Amino acid sequence: MLNPEQREQISRQITAYENEVGVGLVKVPFGYKTLALRVDQLVASPEIMNSGVQVIQYLAQFPELVRGKRVTDMGAGSGIIGLASALLGANHVLMADIDNRAVANVEANINQLHLKGRCEVFQSDLFHNFGDRPKAEVQIFNHPFFADFPVRNKEWTQMMLGGTELLGKYFEEAPHFATSDALYILPWLTLAENNHGIDNDPGKRAMAYGFTVSRVTEQHPVKSGIQQSLFKIYELRHRV
Ligand SMILES: C[S@@+](CC[C@H](N)C(=O)[O-])C[C@H]1O[C@@H](n2cnc3c(N)ncnc32)[C@H](O)[C@@H]1O
Repeated sequence: MLNPEQREQISRQITAYENEVGVGLVKVPFGYKTLALRVDQLVASPEIMNSGVQVIQYLAQFPELVRGKRVTDMGAGSGIIGLASALLGANHVLMADIDNRAVANVEANINQLHLKGRCEVFQSDLFHNFGDRPKAEVQIFNHPFFADFPVRNKEWTQMMLGGTELLGKYFEEAPHFATSDALYILPWLTLAENNHGIDNDPGKRAMAYGFTVSRVTEQHPVKSGIQQSLFKIYELRHRV
């Protein structure tokens, strides 16, 4: 269940996608540089949902988190997080998304940035199609924040409306596809907090699945996009 403010936020995001805001070549602030990404309509756009921008600015501030590491970017969207990780020196990046539109979009961006040797993208519902690929040392999931189901006949709204089961399933599955000492990075938009029931705040949810919070950083909204409440970025570890 969403509160009125959350419903209003979702409605503004949906309207922006339907009006093709943030489509085409999008330039995203990335440390002192910019990252130029192609973004297709109905794929998560940094000019609408700026949580990906928050994550890559965090990574640009702490590049040692991904440098030299095998990284998984779950729910890759345009590829913003996985591609930024590769540009910061990740050894290899797996990017997966349930939506084939996103997979094609990431593929185009991998080619445009000449990162084919170090990045792989494929369709997968969470880890379903990961097979026996090498385990990640860093797992990043910019998950759908809002605790309600996708809008009927607008399946693409699964990019923002994940229900509450998705995150639980992620926490159950992720350790099987990561090394035992892996780092997990998940952002959180505090506007999506639900005071009357379960929500998707990783800081509240992860403990039940054997994770501990090793660091939480608060970030003020960036200038782009329409997600303008306080962000948190969680670093988690799984207890073995
Ligand atoms: C908040 S968007 C983040 C997109 C991108 N990482 C970014 O930062 O802009 C969430 C993404 O998760 C994907 N997603 C939703 N459910 C999924 C699932 N079960 N398995 C894999 N990806 C999923 C959506 O299609 C969407 O691209």
